[in-house]
Amino acid sequence: MDIDNLVRENIKRLKPYTSARDQFEKGILLDANENGLGSVVESKLELNRYPDPKHKEIKIHLSKITGAKSENLFIGVGSDEIIDLMIRIFCEPTVDNLLILEPTYGMYKVSADINNVHAISANLSPDFQIDFAEIDSKIKSNTKLIFLCSPNNPTGNLLRVDDIRKLCQYQKSIIVVDEAYIDFTPEGSVLELIGEHTNLVVMRTLSKAWGLAGIRAGYCAADPLIINYLYKVKAPYNLNKLTGRTIISALNNKEQMEKFRFIIVEERKRFVNAISNLPGVIKIFPSDANFLLVKFSDANTVFNKLIEKNIIIRNRSNMLGLENCLRITIGNKSENDQLINALKEIL
Ligand SMILES: Cc1ncc(COP(=O)(O)O)c(C=O)c1O
Repeated sequence: MDIDNLVRENIKRLKPYTSARDQFEKGILLDANENGLGSVVESKLELNRYPDPKHKEIKIHLSKITGAKSENLFIGVGSDEIIDLMIRIFCEPTVDNLLILEPTYGMYKVSADINNVHAISANLSPDFQIDFAEIDSKIKSNTKLIFLCSPNNPTGNLLRVDDIRKLCQYQKSIIVVDEAYIDFTPEGSVLELIGEHTNLVVMRTLSKAWGLAGIRAGYCAADPLIINYLYKVKAPYNLNKLTGRTIISALNNKEQMEKFRFIIVEERKRFVNAISNLPGVIKIFPSDANFLLVKFSDANTVFNKLIEKNIIIRNRSNMLGLENCLRITIGNKSENDQLINALKEIL
C-alpha cells in the first residue's frame, strides 16, 4: 500500500525544522542559545539543555516492553498529541475527512474540528462492534483515517481482532487503533499486526494502567514511513526531559503496572457484584477496561445525587445509543466502597 499517496502534499514537501540537538548532543554546545551556566533548578538531568528530539533512549526501553522495533515507535505528549498529528499529516482541511465509530472517545472529533476536517460518524453495532455495512455506507473516497478504540471508551469492550484485520484491507485509509486501555486486557492487542499492515497505527498511553496521566506520555507503533512523518511534523522538542526520565522509570517497573491491573480488575468484579442487583440498575456492560458503563432507570438523578455526596462520575446519557448510561471509573478500594454505599442509599 502506498502510504505516501495518502499524505497531504504540503507535508510531503515540508522541510522539517532541524533542531540543534538533532545534530550534536556532545561538545562545547553553543548552538542552541541555552544557558551554559546551568539551570535555576538543580537537577542531574541538565535541564538547561534541550531534550533529545528523537527520543532514542526512551524508545530502547519501550522496544523491550512492547516488542516493537525503535523504528516502529513514536512518543507523544499523551496520545492526544498523536491523534492531532495523524489528522494534520493525512487530512487536508475542508477536503479530506475521517471516520469515527460511535459512541467513542470524544477527542477524535474535537481534534478533527480544530483542524477543520470533517469527522464522519458511523455507528458501532448494537453490541458495540465494528459494523462493516454501516462503514461501507459512510466511507468516502477521501476518508483518510478511521479511528477505532479498543477497548472502547465509553463502552468498555474490546473490538474483535479479526474485524480490525479485515478493516486494514481498506487500502484507502489509515486505520488508527487507540489501545489506551489495552493494559487491562493485553491479549486483545493488535500491535503485532503492524508488520502485516502498513496502514495500521496502534496508539497507547501511560495515563491509565501505568498511573501517569500527570506527565502526559503516549506512544504509537506503525510502519517506519508513518513514524517518520510523525517526527517530521511534531514540535521539535515535544517531550521534556522530566517526562522522558519518568517514562524510563515507569517502563523499568512493569511489575507495578501489573499489580495495579490485577487490583483494578478484581475491584471491577467486586463492584459489579455489589451493584448488579440494586433497583434502578438496568444493565452493566461487560468491560475490558478500568471503568464500567452502567445503564440506570434514571441516570441523571443518580448522577446529580452522587455529586451532592461529592462523588463524581461521568454522565454519558447524551451520547449516541447511551441513553441513561453513566461511566464509572474503578478507583481504589475505599473510593469504590464509598460509591457502592452511596448507590445503595440513592437507589
Ligand atoms: C480512548 C482514549 N484515548 C486516548 C486518551 C488520552 O490519552 P492521553 O492521556 O495519553 O492523551 C484517553 C483519555 O481518557 C482515552 O480514553
